[in-house]
Formats: sequence, structure tokens, C-alpha cells
Amino acid sequence: MTRFPDDFLWGAATAAYQIEGSPLADGAGASIWRRFSHDPRLMIAKGDTGEVACDHYRRWHDDVALMKTLGLQAYRFSIAWGRVLPEGTGRINQAGLDFYERLVDELLANGIQPLVTLYHWDLPAALDDRGGWLNRDSADWFADYARVLFDRLDGRVTRWVTINEPWVVADGGYLNGVLAPGHRNMFEAPIVSRNLMRAHGRAVQAYRAGGAHEIGLVVNIEPKQAASDSAADHAAQRRAEAYMNRQYLDPALCGRTPPELAEMYGEAWQDWSPDDLALARQRLDFLGVNYYTRSVVRADDAAFLTRAAPVPQPRSTHMTTGWEVSPQALTDMLVWVRAEYGDIPLYVTENGAAFYDPPRAMNGAIDDPLRVDYLRTHIAAVGEAIARGVDVRGYMLWSLLDNLEWTLGYAQRFGIVHVDFETQARTLKNSAHFYRDVIAGNGALPNG
Ligand code: FCB
Repeated sequence: MTRFPDDFLWGAATAAYQIEGSPLADGAGASIWRRFSHDPRLMIAKGDTGEVACDHYRRWHDDVALMKTLGLQAYRFSIAWGRVLPEGTGRINQAGLDFYERLVDELLANGIQPLVTLYHWDLPAALDDRGGWLNRDSADWFADYARVLFDRLDGRVTRWVTINEPWVVADGGYLNGVLAPGHRNMFEAPIVSRNLMRAHGRAVQAYRAGGAHEIGLVVNIEPKQAASDSAADHAAQRRAEAYMNRQYLDPALCGRTPPELAEMYGEAWQDWSPDDLALARQRLDFLGVNYYTRSVVRADDAAFLTRAAPVPQPRSTHMTTGWEVSPQALTDMLVWVRAEYGDIPLYVTENGAAFYDPPRAMNGAIDDPLRVDYLRTHIAAVGEAIARGVDVRGYMLWSLLDNLEWTLGYAQRFGIVHVDFETQARTLKNSAHFYRDVIAGNGALPNG
């Protein structure tokens, strides 16, 4: 049984657009997700939107009480840029800022440490009208926004995240068109990637000018494994890994871009200038890694963009999202990060699973054995990485609540707390009881 460090931080994570609802309340400016979810082509499953979501914008006080019941030591949430700056730049909307200040104060009053993500995908629509992440000025817009939050909250918030999963922003939002703002453009994606990392760099620089605590970046990492020993499959594995796993880590931590990107993008690729590379590479206090699944890949010239196609793993368990369950790959991933990028403090900033749960709780309970098993094996996998010398400092379970799983809508339930979206009733699933026991035992895994 692995021992977790005494100060290991156990928490849960959410993101603004997925849980808050009331997206235009109290003077907030619309985000690209508000627009995307109101596109008449119905971009989100079943036409779901974030209008109500978990109604957390109005129920935040009760939700913090729920966190307290679970014994959470930390809560990772994101700030909706447009609540604070309705036009994205310039005028501050005090009511929006007040909402997050009250939330932070309530967390602290309950002994829960806030871990604040500045950007979890909800760009102000007013900035999208100015080109969004395609505009090089976006780096300065982001740093100005970040500064507003640092000025107001750094006395109380001790861990900041600049951007959540830049890969998903560029790939889903600008290459494949499945996430806001819904572009499908091979020439845009590498520009957006570079601007996201420039924005990250500018925000860290702004933080260094006065911030007193810690700031980091969050990336999603999905270990890529070659389907066979053939040279072609190994090359495919390297392309897939460069595209998803190295594209942002290499600039942020090493000041370079993976060479495979230029090859894959062809004429759509532009080399980063030395200044852009230097900007992207700032000293970070920690790296956040989000992990859900792995991918076994084989060479396939028809597979856009990486020419690496996923190979189905029919013998494994899969989530309702179709993602394969592989706890071993979580250990491998944490070990890989340390081997490739050195001994930077790590937080698992997201990890969790969507399995079928009924829309309504029966007798005040939800039995979710697959999720309990996922958590048990993945928490053990984090422990294994720690035993192998990786400096993992915390685990933020995704997610506290069932919520709007972006384009997949409310049908994909990742919460350990069930939400009845008709009544907004919250019910602790068995996984919530399980996680409470894990926290109480500092990672000792209860039987059952
Ligand atoms: C991650 C996102 C998070 C959630 C999980 C399931 O990519 O950061 O908001 O949707 O996936």
C-alpha cells in the first residue's frame, strides 16, 4: 500500500460553463460557448445548453457545504472571463468579480483551498468577434484579464492555472470544429496553439510581477502506444504523441516545438519565432495533468491529421464516452512526464469517469460500482507513480457534480454527486462516499 505524502491535496474539479448556468446574469458578457450552444445547427447533443446547467451560480453556497461534507481539501474551478470583463477587455463588471470573491471566501471559511483556472474554454464572444485566439493580441487580452483576478484574489488564492488543456481548445475548437468556436481549419489550429502558449506566457509574466503564490499550466495527456513493433506504427505513435502530448509541454517546459508538427501540418505550419518560444517558456510552480484514457495507435495515411489511427481495445472496459479504462497508463504517464520534462511538481488536475447513472436517484442513493472501481484503481495508480519517485502533490477528481459535458451534453455523467437536471436535487453517489473515505484515510483505499 503506497503512502501518500502527509500534505497531499485531495480535491475535486469543475469548470464554469459546465456547472454555473445563468450565463448572462448580473451583467456578464456572452461567451463562445453560449453562442455555440445556441447555434441553430444544434452543436450539442440533444440541443443541451449551459443556460441552467447545475444552477451553481445560484446554489454555490450549498455546493460548498456539499464539498465540506465530502471532506474536500481543495476545489478546482474556473472563472468565466465574460462575467469579469463582459467585453473581454477594458471595463470590469464588479458583480461578476464579486461572485468569485464570495465563492473563494466561502471555500476558505470551510477549510477548502481554491485552485483557480483562468481559462476553461469560455472565451468572451466579443473577443471572438475580434478574431479570438487567432488574433495575436489575445495574449495581451488574457494577461490583462488575469491581472484583474490576481489583483483581487491572490491574497486568498494560492494556486492559479492559466489555461486548461490548450490542445483541446485548438483541436476541438479550430481544427475539428466540435467545440466552440466550431472552426474546421488546418491553417488556424497552429496559429491558435501558438497564441494560447503566448497568452499563457504573458499571464505567468504578469503573475511574477506581483503574485505571491503558485501558478501553472494544465495539459491533457493521453499516453500513445504503438499497436505493433513495426517501424510504421512506431512513427505513428511519435506523431500522435507529438500532436496531443508534446505540442504544449515542449514549448512551455523546453522552449521548442516537436519536429513532427511541421511534418504533419505541411504548408499550414509556421515556425515559432525565438521570441514566441521564449515567451511560452516561463518558470512554472507546478504542472497540472488531466488524465482519462490511453490510446493504442497504428499507422494509417487516411487518419487526419496525425496519420495515426486508434486501434479499438474490445477486451477493456469503456466509459459511456467510449474512452478505454486503463489505470496503468496513468502511472506510465506520470512517470513519462518526469522522465521527459524533469522533476516539476505535478498535480493530477482532472481524473474521473462517465458511466451510466439513472437520471433520477432511487431512495436517495446511486450505486455506481464502475466509477468506484475507476477511482480505486486510478488513485492506486497515482500512488504507484509516487512510489516510483514522481512528485505528485494532489489529485482533483473530475467531477464534483454531473454537468454539461460540452458537446456530449448532460447525458455523460462524470460526477460523484448526482444531479437531477429536472429538480437540481443533488445526491451523493456511492463513489462520493468512497472518495470521502479515501480522503479521510489520506489515500488508503477502503475495501469493498
Ligand atoms: C476534459 C475537460 C473537462 C471535462 C473532462 C471530461 O477534457 O477539461 O472540462 O469535460 O474532459
